[in-house]
Order: sequence, then C-alpha cells, then structure tokens
Amino acid sequence: MKHQIAPSILNANFLRLAEVIEMLNKSEADLIHLDIMDGVFVPNLSFGFPIISQIKSLAQKPLDVHLMITEPDRYLDRFRDSGADLLTVHYEACDDLKKTLTTIRRLGMKSSVSVKPATDVEVLAPYLELLDMVLIMTVEPGYGGQSFIKSSFDKVKKLSGMIRSAGTPTLIEVDGGVGKNNLVLLKEAGASIFVIGTSIFKSADPEGMIRELKGL
Ligand code: DX5
Ligand code: ZN
Repeated sequence: MKHQIAPSILNANFLRLAEVIEMLNKSEADLIHLDIMDGVFVPNLSFGFPIISQIKSLAQKPLDVHLMITEPDRYLDRFRDSGADLLTVHYEACDDLKKTLTTIRRLGMKSSVSVKPATDVEVLAPYLELLDMVLIMTVEPGYGGQSFIKSSFDKVKKLSGMIRSAGTPTLIEVDGGVGKNNLVLLKEAGASIFVIGTSIFKSADPEGMIRELKGL
C-alpha cells in the first residue's frame, strides 16, 4: 500500500489558516494532522474545538486529531462533533484504554493510540483488535521542530511484528522529526502514515514538498 502523508499544521501560519487548508486540499496530502495540547499532559498549549470546526468546514481530507491531553474521555464526543475522523489518545493518559477505544469507534471515528518515546510498544498487545492505527511518537510530544529519536526504528519494527502476528489491519503512524532523510527507512520498518510538520511548512514550497514526500 502506498504510504500516506499527514501534514501537521502546528507550525503553519495561523493568520492564513484558510490558505493553508486550501493548499492541503489541492496537495497530495492524505490526511490533515491536528495537534491538541492541554498544557498538562505536555508543557504546551495549542488549539481546541472552534479551530477544529473551522478547519473541518474547509477541509476536503480526513482530520487526524492527535490528543496530547489528560482524561481524553471527557471530550471524545466533542472532538467527533468538531469533525475528527481519526482520533488518537495517548496510552499514558488513559485509565481504561479498552473503554476509550470502544467509545471512539462507537462514535463513528477511527481509533488510535499513541505511545511516548519511553513507552514500550509491548503494552499495546491487548488492544490491537480495537486499533485502526498506532501513532509512535518519534520525539517527545509537545513541540514541532525537534530531532528524530533514532531508537524509534526498532520500535516501529517491533510493533509491525506484533501486528503481523495478531493479524489485525492496524496501521502504524510516526510523528516527530520525520522528513525526506528518514521516511523510506521508517517505511521499511513498517510505518505507513507519516506526520510531517516542519519539513513541509518551513519549506519554500510546501505543496511541492508534500508531492516529493508522497513520491518517496
Ligand atoms: C509534536 C506533534 C507533532 C509535530 C510534528 O508533539 O505531535 O505532530 O507537529 O512536527 P515536526 O514534523 O516538526 O516534528
Ligand atoms: Zn502530532
């Protein structure tokens, strides 16, 4: 299967958000990745429901919403109502992950869980049946523009083996410090969805960069 590109708009120009979304609509991007931070689970704040809804009203691609928040259960229905198509919660933020993932699917969204760099992917074995996707953080969550953590390759390989043994259609997404220099190796390790922020939005030609990344 051809890999998918999920541009993260965290470091895009929010004064020109409509143009950013229109560019993504025209581009070869497969998903639009939105990073939601609460200042508690991660030491940074980003944006919430009103911005997601406004993006949804323009976006022609599915919204891939990455929740870096504590107690995500409090808001699952509101993220669905704001337009999330695929919802990622953090393993480290959930008390009853089975219940959370079941609720995400019942609400009509695709389900996903993310693990921080220090969390072993082994913990996900009991949940694979309930997961459409796993997001492996390849930097510490909280900020764009950080350097890729190299031990992530082994993590992706390990998870890929677990998914193969379980026989589920779970896809692997990687997020943080991803770009032209490591995408192909990550793909060989088993990832198929690539969240990319800085490499796209700091490029002189973001749409061209998306095309290039999609073509790798
Ligand atoms: C970081 C976010 C990422 C971030 C990726 O916590 O989850 O989605 O925007 O940005 P880059 O590609 O700059 O690492
Ligand atoms: Zn993200």
